[in-house]
Amino acid sequence: MIDLTGDVVLVTGAARGIGAAIAETVAGAGARIGLLDVDTDRLRRQADRLGTAAAWATCDITSEDEVSGAVAALREKLGPATGLVNNAGRNAYGDPVAMTVAQWDEVFAVDLKGAWLTARAVLPDMLADGHGSIVNIASMHATLTCPGMFPYAAAKSGLVGLTRSLALEVGPQGVRVNAVSPGYIETDLLTEYFDRQPSHVRQAATDKHVLGRLGSPHDVATVVAFLLSDAAGFVTGADWAVDGGVSARFA
Ligand code: NAI
Repeated sequence: MIDLTGDVVLVTGAARGIGAAIAETVAGAGARIGLLDVDTDRLRRQADRLGTAAAWATCDITSEDEVSGAVAALREKLGPATGLVNNAGRNAYGDPVAMTVAQWDEVFAVDLKGAWLTARAVLPDMLADGHGSIVNIASMHATLTCPGMFPYAAAKSGLVGLTRSLALEVGPQGVRVNAVSPGYIETDLLTEYFDRQPSHVRQAATDKHVLGRLGSPHDVATVVAFLLSDAAGFVTGADWAVDGGVSARFA
């Protein structure tokens, strides 16, 4: 059992999908939990489900002002963050020629810059305390990808690079930084992806997973909870595949 009693963990994109599962798992392990998302209605319902251990703040992670405001508001309610999960993200299906610079910037703002903004907002407390854990939800597309995911794969590769680089910067002061790279996980995001594809793609994707099934948000959440905890006290700068063996098959 992972024990996060006494921890304060902030989770971005916590209103649905993998982020909601992480919030539930981390709260179940005893932490107080701060939920951030752009979707206020779902966020409020999710916080209500988690009870008094949870607080929430509407926040677009691409906005420097919204991130600093939301992190400060949650600090007031919960205390300084000891953990951060950068989970909020979006898919991108751009054409490398037709895509505009504004569209490129939107993808990188959510899938890469936002993780730095939130880390920057919580790090002063973690560094002062000499203790903290940051987990960035990347993707198997960071290391192996498929056509049609431009420039999502590039942004998620950047997020793994940020993970390594930040781990080196803050490790000496006791803060760990890791990435988790999920395979196909059954969420609304994945449904939206499959809806864009021919009907056989879902089964073909399932078959690529050595374990013979798509992942659940809970599969990711349990690994994140481990990385947040002292049980992972000697783990930093790593990229954890939670992909049912897809990356092993194509390595
Ligand atoms: P989802 O689309 O179901 O949930 C994402 C959440 O992030 C939503 O609640 C959304 O409102 C929020 N969000 C989006 N942009 C935001 C912003 N600018 N500021 C604050 N919140 C924002 O996605 P899902 O499937 O739960 O994915 C979560 C993470 O896992 C993402 O980073 C995604 O790239 C990654 N991932 C998901 C996989 C999957 O198969 N579902 C596979 C690999 C990685």
